[in-house]
Amino acid sequence: MKKIVIGNWKMMLAPTAGRNLANDLVKLLPAKNSAEVVVCPSFTALELVGEAIKDSQIELGAQDVFWQDSGAYTGEESPASLVELGCQYVIIGHSERRQGLGETDQMVHNKAATAIEQGLWPIVCVGETYEERHNGKAEAVVHRQLTSALQGVDLVGSEQLVIAYEPVWAIGRGQPITIADAQLMVQIIHQALLDVFPLTIVQGNVRIVYGGSVNATVAQEFANIEHLAGFLVGGASVKADQFVDIIKQSI
Ligand code: PGA
Repeated sequence: MKKIVIGNWKMMLAPTAGRNLANDLVKLLPAKNSAEVVVCPSFTALELVGEAIKDSQIELGAQDVFWQDSGAYTGEESPASLVELGCQYVIIGHSERRQGLGETDQMVHNKAATAIEQGLWPIVCVGETYEERHNGKAEAVVHRQLTSALQGVDLVGSEQLVIAYEPVWAIGRGQPITIADAQLMVQIIHQALLDVFPLTIVQGNVRIVYGGSVNATVAQEFANIEHLAGFLVGGASVKADQFVDIIKQSI
């Protein structure tokens, strides 16, 4: 499968700034780029960014989604609305939502299952906190997050799933995990995926990416980790030149 590089713009850009960044990316990205590129602006920027990238190879993703199709759910967004705005992917269970906003494993599962049913491809985030790692619980936490998110979820045909391993303590710090630790966790995630899906699905429909202080150097160093198929990038994804460098290094 192709490598994938996803930009998580978080709440860092207003709609017009998002459109300007998207225009810059369209200009800067090499015409034939062998990594799949996805940008995930905030909800309010989706339409403008979608227009800016519509004739390019860049794909659109959202940063969250709700698990109901419609109804009295103030402040939520349905999968169908995101599809209508041109989204293919959606980030689900980012640690900034799990930690800061009380998103549970069950909510992450509901969102991932509904997203797939409605034609959106989930980028499910998993990762341990600093405390969990120091208490020797990193592997158990990530295994639990992954299996509870995906238990009972089916992938058929060309449906795609991305698992983003993001150690919470490495996000936005300028300090990623070591290559050895990343290798181990990616291996554990690969094994956990085999507990949930048949081998053919794991090989053909699921990619594992790393997130947490990714820059071009990290992308180059991590590019050849076995079973690692790309990156989820936060801070560096809102700087066009830095994001393009990461994409080039990740192949
Ligand atoms: P960062 O964020 O690249 O700024 O560490 C990654 C993320 O939160 O997805």
